[in-house]
Amino acid sequence: MKTKELVYAALFAALITVLGLIPPLPLGFIPVPITAQTLGVMLTGCFLGKRMGALSLVVFIILIALGLPVLTGGRGGLAVLVGPSAGYIFSWPVAAGLIGWYSEKIWPKVQTWKLVVVNLIFGVLLVNLIGASIMAWITNTPVWAGLAGASAFLPGDIIKAVIAAVITMQLKAISPIEEKAQ
Ligand code: BTN
Repeated sequence: MKTKELVYAALFAALITVLGLIPPLPLGFIPVPITAQTLGVMLTGCFLGKRMGALSLVVFIILIALGLPVLTGGRGGLAVLVGPSAGYIFSWPVAAGLIGWYSEKIWPKVQTWKLVVVNLIFGVLLVNLIGASIMAWITNTPVWAGLAGASAFLPGDIIKAVIAAVITMQLKAISPIEEKAQ
């Protein structure tokens, strides 16, 4: 593991923490809030690639486990990692890694719409499938009810998927993937 990779991973874990300063939007009917931090997850995968992307989210989860207030509303601690949103949080490194894998694969010919599609598949669908299923299990609710509730996240998550792709294209020249591709 190169120092540079660790620095990038830490930098993006910090960025996701900063996005957590945007207040969460509670939905009332589901114990998981709307958060801007998913934008950070998708951006991390698109911009850093698979290895650094996944590592960044692992670092973020370690910060949560250590009790640092890195989640929206200043939350952190082991209790969150076994609470209703645990599945969502643990799906984040997987999503960032898979988004990063595809991002690296298409990099020389990367296009906004391709990043939007991969964000939708892994950053929106996969995250919500894993997150809602585990939320249903933890809260003793039928899985269909969990998935139905989580559908409320889709409009916001789709917008975040587009924003993450657009920002990545704007910052393409300074991405570590660009460096590797040359
Ligand atoms: C937490 O702060 O405890 C984790 C929140 C997880 C939120 C999930 S991620 C996917 C979906 N989109 C959102 O905006 N919120 C949920």
